[in-house]
Amino acid sequence: MEKLVIQGPVTLSGEVTISGAKNAALPMMAAALLAPGESHLHNMPRLQDLITMSKVLAIMGCDVRLDWPSIKIDTTSVDNLLAPYSLVKTMRASVLVMGPMAARWGEARVSLPGGCAIGTRPINLHIAGLEAMGADVRVEHGYVHVKARRLRGAHIKFPQPTVTGTENLMMAATLAKGTTVLENAAREPEIEDLALMLNKMGARIRGAGTPIITIEGVDELQPVSHHAIPDRIEAGTFLVAGAVTGGNVLARKADPRHLEAVLEKLRMAGADITIEREGIRVRGTDVYTPLDIMTAPYPGFPTDMQAQFMILMLKSRGQSMLTETIFENRFMHVPELMRMGADIEVKGRTAIVNGPAHLSGTQVMATDLRASASLVLAGLISEGTTEVLRIYHMDRGYEKLEEKLAALGANIRREKTQMY
Ligand code: UD1
Repeated sequence: MEKLVIQGPVTLSGEVTISGAKNAALPMMAAALLAPGESHLHNMPRLQDLITMSKVLAIMGCDVRLDWPSIKIDTTSVDNLLAPYSLVKTMRASVLVMGPMAARWGEARVSLPGGCAIGTRPINLHIAGLEAMGADVRVEHGYVHVKARRLRGAHIKFPQPTVTGTENLMMAATLAKGTTVLENAAREPEIEDLALMLNKMGARIRGAGTPIITIEGVDELQPVSHHAIPDRIEAGTFLVAGAVTGGNVLARKADPRHLEAVLEKLRMAGADITIEREGIRVRGTDVYTPLDIMTAPYPGFPTDMQAQFMILMLKSRGQSMLTETIFENRFMHVPELMRMGADIEVKGRTAIVNGPAHLSGTQVMATDLRASASLVLAGLISEGTTEVLRIYHMDRGYEKLEEKLAALGANIRREKTQMY
């Protein structure tokens, strides 16, 4: 196993180029299944999660070529409509292959994802949607078995927005007979990007990016070439990194239209944000104004940025509040931050953060993807050496994080963890 070793504190300055969005790339890879032949995907971030998805597709019989930052997926030889537990348990977004398999081949066997560090994260809404489209769905021996001669259009109202649920059913509906309406759909930019790709393939989707998506089913789709949008969470993470270190960082390629809630909170805290032709620049300061943040589905404040903003709150004078409404167990970085000297109290779904904190480096353990980013940011503002253990979580979602931070002036390196 590997760890990151960070010497702080540091002031970051310079430019960083934001990679393609993980959460756009994963559904795009699954969408390639919908067409016979070879699709070419571009601006793909080199991440463990994409490698896992490529293995899911390869087990099905796809010929997948990783030629970073491009991925070629040829579906000509698909003969195994299975997403096995061994892969789905390491990345729950593997379930995104379920909709395309059911739509194109009328059959899918997908392992239930099981537990996840940040909460139970069921897929009942994905399943209910496929059932509404006429599929026969049975859950047996830990697997979801889907059977359908041909899916048919349906009116599906989500009780709450779900990102991958919306994507799965949107993909399934492209090849269904008749029109599907998804109501209370998730509105994330990655869903709009997926719809753009599917429409290039010949799908008829309207309303992606709004709560109502209408999909007119077609008989077949064509392979496609498509570029993923930039990763708004990676961009947000670097902007917070620039802010908390009192630095001056340009996040090249970051798209301000996807980051409104995040930029608003950075500005409210006192960071100077400017939109430039190349991207978004942050100029930090020493002490910030406390914030009150509640996570919400897009266009609200993203749950995937919550852990990083806690570090900004630790640099604020006074009491900040952070309420997590999407996942039930997403404060696992808090005890680690407290070991570094933070004053944080968790009451139910709200964390009360008292600042400013004077953090000191120590060994801390990453528990999930965004928690690992928050611990790295804490390391950048701490006195002395911080070691972030279990960074395989970070490698799932941040491309070359330590190289990009080092290029901005951080003293950070990756080392093997001693086992004793
Ligand atoms: C996606 C993102 C993840 C992000 C999350 C919320 C990808 C690959 N991952 O995850 O980075 O943190 O959105 O923005 O895009 N729910 C149900 N039943 C379902 C589906 C969801 O109860 O069938 C609940 C979940 O437990 C959660 C909420 O709905 O409380 C939202 O989850 P969802 O939007 O589905 O998250 P993911 O798509 O898994």
